[in-house]
Amino acid sequence: MKRYEQFADQIAELIRSGMLAPGDRVPSVRHASRTYGVSPSTVFQAYYLLEDRGLIQARARSGYFVRTLAGQPLAEAEVGCAPPPTSEVDVSELVFSVLGSLKDPHTVPFGSAFPSPQLFPLARLARSMNQALRDLPAHAVIADMTAGNPDLRRQIALRYMVAGVRLPLEELVITNGAMEALNLCLQTVTQPGDLVAIEAPAFYATLQVLERLKLKAVEIPVHPRSGIDLGMLAERLDKLPIKACWFMSSLQNPIGASLNDAKKAELYALLKRHQVPLIEDDVYAELYYGTQPPKPVKSLDDEGLVMHCGSFSKSLAPGYRVGWVAGGRYAEQIARLKLMTTISPSVPAQAAIADYLQHGGYDRHLRKLRIALETQQAAMLASAARHFPSETRVTRPAGGYFLWFEFPERVDSLQLFQLALAQGISLAPGPIFSATRAFQHCARLNHGHPWTSQNEQAMQVLGRILASF
Ligand SMILES: Cc1ncc(COP(=O)(O)O)c(C=O)c1O
Repeated sequence: MKRYEQFADQIAELIRSGMLAPGDRVPSVRHASRTYGVSPSTVFQAYYLLEDRGLIQARARSGYFVRTLAGQPLAEAEVGCAPPPTSEVDVSELVFSVLGSLKDPHTVPFGSAFPSPQLFPLARLARSMNQALRDLPAHAVIADMTAGNPDLRRQIALRYMVAGVRLPLEELVITNGAMEALNLCLQTVTQPGDLVAIEAPAFYATLQVLERLKLKAVEIPVHPRSGIDLGMLAERLDKLPIKACWFMSSLQNPIGASLNDAKKAELYALLKRHQVPLIEDDVYAELYYGTQPPKPVKSLDDEGLVMHCGSFSKSLAPGYRVGWVAGGRYAEQIARLKLMTTISPSVPAQAAIADYLQHGGYDRHLRKLRIALETQQAAMLASAARHFPSETRVTRPAGGYFLWFEFPERVDSLQLFQLALAQGISLAPGPIFSATRAFQHCARLNHGHPWTSQNEQAMQVLGRILASF
């Protein structure tokens, strides 16, 4: 990463953390150059970049200022809920009815779970697919089904190493996306009727997996800034025979929260004390903004208690269905269960991704992707400030492509969903993220698509519908 990009990220972090508020003057070029020990041209380049990203704006003869939103910036979301100690899960019908609405390509995809395919290097991946298939030894077409593509395994292990996680290659199981990895992990460590700690709100597929495996949910609230409530988790672990935890420690879906390093250590110590395994869903790991990748709880795992699940679906190749789990002490059982169910993800898809990781410029692509997502986040926040009721609250995640909105209590988000859909706009209503159908007045909106006038108009329409409640 170039010096000006690093410096731009330092300033962006000050803006994200609120140290520099909308309307504040950013340090003058001379001042920044002296204070941070960078050349004036580095500061200029950094400020041009931040201007492109929509974070700052120039004012004639006055310098650069943190961009002010038209309208009052919305207050930060607080997400509160008091879930019962345990819950049966029965959300599938509701989730399917919402997901069904996303199929129409003409719908504005604020409800989608994916970023825009335009942001992925699909043509370059296709070249990798061609090359990899030409190079694939005949025996590998069969052999790679059991163990996974050896180059892909090495590339994934290498990325763990660079991120400061030592990972024996034997721990890695390549799967059909993270979804299979998560399912296999849960099946490995639970029996029907067991209790599993999950987040509230949680990724809706987590709820569906629990429902399918006849497991009961112990919902633990997540706060947008500080992440999962560790006090409540400790209490529940003391009182209830919880068999596993399924958490996202970074860039949680749907609210984008991340635990800081100290809290990750606290979480790991707690689980270790109770000997409860953690299924760590980390599919958004690569989509952090700025220069500091979040460290997974897996990086602390000296007992093999963490099953760390990752995927290329959100960062490189949606639809290729290639994910993995670093399965800790459970890796062998997970691998066997996989052989008994789907055997293997597609060998050509694995080979294509392996080739891309070696030759395609993955890190360059990721840097561009992160900047696009951050820019689009700023655009959606600004648009929400212009069009949504002023009492609306919103999260400001440090990565990913989701914003979580808390509307005034009078808003019924399931009704909002129906009304918006009739206008050709999808969104993900709050209750699909909860075993108890909480979060009635909340919704998750996707900003993973380049911002267009159509998006702006859709936000305006949503604003009008919201005002009608
Ligand atoms: C939190 C979370 N975990 C897992 C998945 C599934 O990932 P994959 O497409 O690799 O199966 C998703 C996809 O939406 C997700 O949002």
